[in-house]
Amino acid sequence: MRATPPGPKGAPVIGNTRRFARDPFSFMSACRDAYGDVAQFSLADDPAYLLTNPADVERVLVSEERKYRKPLFDDDLKDLLGNGLLLSEGEFWRRERRRTQPAFDMRRIGGLAGMMTDHAEDTLAEWNDGRTIPIDTEMARLTVKIIVDAMFGVSFEDEAVERMQANLEPLGRHFEPDILRALLPEWVPTQEHREYQAAIETLEGLIEDVLAERRGTAEDPSVDPSSTDAESDRPMDLLSILLRAQSEHGDVDDELLRDELMTMLLAGHDTTALALTYTWYLLAHNPDVEARLHREFDDVLGGRVPTTADVRELSYTEHVLKEAMRLYPPVYSLFRETRTDVRLGGYRIPKGSVLMLPQWAIHRDPRWYENPLDFDPDRWAPDRAAKRPNYAYFPFGGGPRHCIGKRFSLLEATLILGTIGQDYRLELTSEEPISLQGSLTMHPEEPIEAVVRER
Ligand code: HEM
Repeated sequence: MRATPPGPKGAPVIGNTRRFARDPFSFMSACRDAYGDVAQFSLADDPAYLLTNPADVERVLVSEERKYRKPLFDDDLKDLLGNGLLLSEGEFWRRERRRTQPAFDMRRIGGLAGMMTDHAEDTLAEWNDGRTIPIDTEMARLTVKIIVDAMFGVSFEDEAVERMQANLEPLGRHFEPDILRALLPEWVPTQEHREYQAAIETLEGLIEDVLAERRGTAEDPSVDPSSTDAESDRPMDLLSILLRAQSEHGDVDDELLRDELMTMLLAGHDTTALALTYTWYLLAHNPDVEARLHREFDDVLGGRVPTTADVRELSYTEHVLKEAMRLYPPVYSLFRETRTDVRLGGYRIPKGSVLMLPQWAIHRDPRWYENPLDFDPDRWAPDRAAKRPNYAYFPFGGGPRHCIGKRFSLLEATLILGTIGQDYRLELTSEEPISLQGSLTMHPEEPIEAVVRER
């Protein structure tokens, strides 16, 4: 057993926080290159470990997952997501995961394709040749509408979507690594903190509106035409499931209802919107890939709106999306905390340590990806992909806590790409490479603007 893992030297008290806050992405890659599979550094005054070997990722997420938990995130994240599925732990988490799973059943999800493409077509109805759009905002607008329709069985009016989008920015800003926040006690009131609390209240207001509309309708089959619960004909959207649990079993109180809806609203739209945004960005920079994608759309769809059955035939599209999420994983690192002393990469890591499992650095590691910075969807051809270790790619996490929305978002992203990409190309207004901002997810620092061009 070796001693402490190597790592960058930090300043007193703030440790490596300044470097991390300035550019977490370069920091993660630099640690991988300089120190190897396990690097130790300090965030604020706490030791953290960066794991960049897929075999260790597999251990933490899958084969030895019982030794790890999600870290006790700061109170601010708890204020936002509470005890929803993303943050809860133990038996409570297991019960809720089991309860909510039917809303993500593939037979049900497959039945939502028409709703998804309808929303995509509504977006297109507002576009025309030559119009300039912010790709990231447009994609988020579209995925918000889809998630509330799919999971809550309601439609958001444009006004509600705008109210929500206006409040996502202060939310995101709050979770950007920030040297000042690392040092200030949480009770020190700042302008930024007040904006954060106000944003949470606005989102809670939207959720209350949804609940006011939906209470008393959890048995109404017209709420969710894709219901799979054929015997009782009861709607199987997430909110109907939770509302029935509340009235029938009494083990879902109003607070949990709020937490689950907030979690799904945020986790269920921002990530997919980012995956699509980065895909459009990469396509605009890679005309050969774009041309092949168009050929696939023409061959498989021939001008039709895509369906769930078509998605199975759109194999190049699948590789394009996969490759975009390799280079730009919307979730750029996972975090875990050790429940006991553990051994990883030949080192003993003490109980209570924070671990980072960075998709960003592992997805770009030349050990697993030849010319790792190239956008090359063909690297996902089965014979090439099979040569890579498991967990050299994990945009949706892994093990029992893997993303519950994975298949939903892959279907959604493919249908949106197909619906839009058949008719339009997005031409970037700037040649500059994008800058990225790490928050809960990985965002472009500035809006990505593009001119809509008819194909
Ligand atoms: C491209 C799109 C998406 C990406 C990249 C993504 C990524 C992830 C990742 C990496 C995790 C694991 C977090 C961890 O282990 O700490 C996760 C969990 C989760 N995701 Fe997603 N996600 C996406 C779409 C969605 C969608 C569409 C939904 C909801 C409809 C969703 C809901 C959730 C929830 C509730 C969890 C927590 C699951 C649990 O712990 O049981 N995600 N996601």
